Amino acid sequence: TEPLRLGIAGLGTVGIGVVKIIRRHAALLEARTGRPVVITAVSARDATKDRGVSLKDYAWETDPVALATRDDVDVFVELMGGHEGPAKLATEAALAAGKDVVTANKALLAIHGQALAEQAEANGRVIRFEAAVAGGIPVIKSLTESLAGNEITRVMGVMNGTCNYILTQMEATGRGYNALFEECGQLGYLEADPLLDVGGIDAGHKLALLASIAFGTKPAFDDVKLEGIQRIAIEDIRHAADMGYRIKLLGVAQRSARGLEQRMTPCLVPADSPLGQLEGGTNMVVIEGDAIDQVVLRGPGAGEGPTASAVMGDVLDIARGLRIATFGQPATTLSEEPAAQTGLP
Ligand code: NDP
Ligand code: HSE
Repeated sequence: TEPLRLGIAGLGTVGIGVVKIIRRHAALLEARTGRPVVITAVSARDATKDRGVSLKDYAWETDPVALATRDDVDVFVELMGGHEGPAKLATEAALAAGKDVVTANKALLAIHGQALAEQAEANGRVIRFEAAVAGGIPVIKSLTESLAGNEITRVMGVMNGTCNYILTQMEATGRGYNALFEECGQLGYLEADPLLDVGGIDAGHKLALLASIAFGTKPAFDDVKLEGIQRIAIEDIRHAADMGYRIKLLGVAQRSARGLEQRMTPCLVPADSPLGQLEGGTNMVVIEGDAIDQVVLRGPGAGEGPTASAVMGDVLDIARGLRIATFGQPATTLSEEPAAQTGLP
């Protein structure tokens, strides 16, 4: 059988996580898909860095565009980050060259996702991004496959591991941002620019992606009402706790009389509720639909293993020949009477 050949651009937290899974589970992956899944070439900025795993079996490309367009690459795996520059250029080049793309890059997709999806469709390719929303939680697949029979009425949740880690650790230890940033870095949670995390922007990117899939609209990041956690002080957290609440950076997307409403803002949630009990880098995504009522998905939202796990889910779908497009699905028809909204979980 023909192997599925990957070109991986970006060998940081997530990229190395993917390399490790492919090395560790080669036989398992082949058994599950019926074909070997192999890495043919990799790319990062620094060719001399010790990344803790051997890369000697893979060709090295300094230029991600050259990697993305190699003849011996079937799937371009983009794990560099950034919504402009090499990530965008190489993704476009890969699609133009007839490669499928798997990425964890929510910034790229929240801003350019529609154009990239249209380019993929025009070239008969797919662009998959399970890892871009809520790390290891299979939230996109849940929406596009398992819950596809529903009219989705609301999606919401805690979608940034860094913010949840900082808020819960501030509460538990009384420590401030700087010390906690260091820990988030060690855990592999931080974006290259951590202001994207604490500013709510990273979570806003994720909400825009989820909303577009749930409601069949174009991703509209500019319409997300955003507020980060920078202004939250330890005193706010303590006062909230005294009254039985915790502060969470909570995203909500739903249809309203004014159209699609998208908010990513710090909110008070009851401390004894499932959302209130989320600790550390854990994320929770709640999906509500007319048939299912409510599904609550909870799991690790960031870090090497969980994010690489989600990337591999997409890679293996492509290896199996499953080619479900994520954007570009027909828009859901709105009911006259929206289904009754349940409370926060
Ligand atoms: P890292 O910063 O750990 O790694 C980024 C990698 O990309 C590095 O290997 C870097 O090279 C390489 N790189 C950066 N710029 C270039 C360039 N111009 N040319 C070639 N290579 C480049 O990031 P993460 O692994 O944490 O994140 C990768 C992507 O995954 C981002 O889009 C992020 O938003 C997303 N993501 C991350 C999660 C996480 O928990 N970390 C979770 C979900 C999504 P070098 O090492 O040589 O500097
Ligand atoms: N910086 C992100 C977070 C990584 O902390 O959630 C996962 O998308």
